[in-house]
Amino acid sequence: MKNILCIGAGYVGGPTMAMIAKKCPDYTITVVDINEDRIQKWQSDSLPIYEPGLKPIVDDTLNKNLFFSTDVAGNITKADIIFVSVNTPTKTFGKGAGKAADLQYWEKTARQILLHSKTNKIVVEKSTLPVRTAEAMERILNSHDNGIHFEVLSNPEFLAEGTAIRDLTDPDRVLIGGHSTESGQKAVNELVKIYAHWVQPEKILTTNLWSSELSKLVANAFLSQRISSINTISALCEATEADVEEVSKAIGTDSRIGSKFLNASVGFGGSCFQKDILNMVYLCEYYGLNEVATYWEQVVSINNYQKQRFVTRMIKSMFNTVVDKKIAVLGFAFKADTGDTRESPAIDICKQLLEERASLIISDPKAIRNAKIDLELYLDQIEFEPDPYAAAADAHALAVLTEWEEYKSLDYDRIFDVMIKPAFIFDGRNILDHQRLFDIGFNVYAIGKPELSHL
Ligand SMILES: NC(=O)c1ccc[n+]([C@@H]2O[C@H](COP(=O)([O-])OP(=O)(O)OC[C@H]3O[C@@H](n4cnc5c(N)ncnc54)[C@H](O)[C@@H]3O)[C@@H](O)[C@H]2O)c1
Repeated sequence: MKNILCIGAGYVGGPTMAMIAKKCPDYTITVVDINEDRIQKWQSDSLPIYEPGLKPIVDDTLNKNLFFSTDVAGNITKADIIFVSVNTPTKTFGKGAGKAADLQYWEKTARQILLHSKTNKIVVEKSTLPVRTAEAMERILNSHDNGIHFEVLSNPEFLAEGTAIRDLTDPDRVLIGGHSTESGQKAVNELVKIYAHWVQPEKILTTNLWSSELSKLVANAFLSQRISSINTISALCEATEADVEEVSKAIGTDSRIGSKFLNASVGFGGSCFQKDILNMVYLCEYYGLNEVATYWEQVVSINNYQKQRFVTRMIKSMFNTVVDKKIAVLGFAFKADTGDTRESPAIDICKQLLEERASLIISDPKAIRNAKIDLELYLDQIEFEPDPYAAAADAHALAVLTEWEEYKSLDYDRIFDVMIKPAFIFDGRNILDHQRLFDIGFNVYAIGKPELSHL
């Protein structure tokens, strides 16, 4: 029985290892983290992250072949294969601040692996990293002449939060990068063998290390580029009375374009898109590819513009002031079906509204705990209310910022009755029935659509 270790028990480490444990009963999997609270929660009834379908898988495997622990050193010693899934946020200090990846957690992990290893190991990069990080990892791991062979592989994770279990169960592809040497290919085959327990062989792609590392950054760059592209068109639609949903449908039926990721919105969020594009921008600058860097940086600039535009439209339509107006924010998570709020557009939008001296009441089925942390400097101007009906009471406006399914079927007649008139709805995700809301009496502002106003 082989021992797999995963360092980092976050949104990636936890679900991916739970899936491997479920599909590979012939492996023992241990997930370690320096965060004791997280580890304790993984072993409890209330998991540290919300992800549909995750709990039953953890329940099935926990303490059978899936273990959580804070003993990083001891588990490194025992492991045959080590996945490294620590956080790689954008650097906030020094050279490259605001763009480059902060590799401090990554490097500490590499040094710990070196320190506690007594036998050969395969080390797998699961975190998203700048291209050629594997080279740095190899340099650290081979810096001691201790006779231990470390083979570094890249196996970036493509799961999306909210659909992680579906994505892990039936991935579009699994990508494994390794060296073309004999030991490199042997290690690649070891990893292929694990995924082959449930993923069809044609979906397991093997490449060289650098292509694998770069592909993850490029995938996120292309996905967010599509969102920013359609969001620029939403601005043009609002100016011309075209309807962005009609335009998306018209262009998405073209098989060369495809229909996915063409929903205009308040902008993308999540811990990865912005970080990974900026990481790629930084790499381009490093290699002197300034035109390429400028091209991709625009994707992030447009995302910021889209959030500002949303707030500007809110203020303008509410008679150019939101001072002391109560605005009910429906949804704070960066997308539906997660409690994660990292880089959520709701953070910037709420901050801008608070700067305009609005008073906010924030509702979300899963993200209120994180919202309180994100807006801790403004708590005197905010209330938190899980019940959307209670949140709407005496509000001047509703702003839908996350596409939670339950917001589509709220009783908007009841909500309209308890709001201050004229009542406004700003649908930042285009999930509501705008004509019906207008008929109830709301003034309706959706993204990339002509306003429906009684004023
Ligand atoms: N969240 C996603 O949807 C997603 C998807 C694909 C890829 N990724 C990438 O996967 C990586 C992890 O992302 P995440 O969202 O799981 O991050 P996360 O912050 O949720 O989890 C990372 C964990 O690593 C732990 N950690 C840091 N240093 C450690 C150390 N030295 N020893 C032990 N534990 C340590 C942290 O305490 C934390 O719990 C990132 O590189 C990210 O870009 C994330």
